[in-house]
Amino acid sequence: MATNKLHYTTPGMSEADAQRVIEILQARLHAANDLHLTLKHVHWNVVGPHFISVHEMIDPQVEAVRGFADEIAERIATLGGSPQGTPGRLVEARTWDDYSIGRATTQEHLGAVDVLYQGVITSWRENIEELDELDLVTQDMLIAQTDKLELFHWFVRAHLEDKGGNLATAGATSEQEAAAAAATTEHGEATSTL
Ligand SMILES: [Fe+2]
Repeated sequence: MATNKLHYTTPGMSEADAQRVIEILQARLHAANDLHLTLKHVHWNVVGPHFISVHEMIDPQVEAVRGFADEIAERIATLGGSPQGTPGRLVEARTWDDYSIGRATTQEHLGAVDVLYQGVITSWRENIEELDELDLVTQDMLIAQTDKLELFHWFVRAHLEDKGGNLATAGATSEQEAAAAAATTEHGEATSTL
């Protein structure tokens, strides 16, 4: 996305660098907005015997990721840019498909959310690398967010792991595939309800 000419940016940063940092942050803003909305959708749609623990585990993640979106958007404005936060702009810009699972068991959703977090964390880490040369202040913010994203990813994965540390979703590359693999870990319920 081409960014409009900046009327100002933070002292000590070139306009070209600020433009690129804003572009990176805008991509993270779309990802964070997509993630907190999707996690809320999961919160509402999980079913099964582990409903309450998973339903309640998800809400603090929604709140934290909403906070990340706010920090990212305000950093864009601080650098002289204009954060784009409407649903239309998000759908137009995103490079991934909408979350594909509706009402499903806790294990199925957690399998799909594992894949979701893999994509999100990979993007955050790629941007952290690039920011090493561009802006350490923005990099620091994304590092702090990644620490939390990775913690949340572990909360999810701990539900998909056996005593030997093997993940049910290992090797799955799509939400559907991961959900089907995770479904096999449910007690007495080896078949997917998808
Ligand atoms: Fe709720």
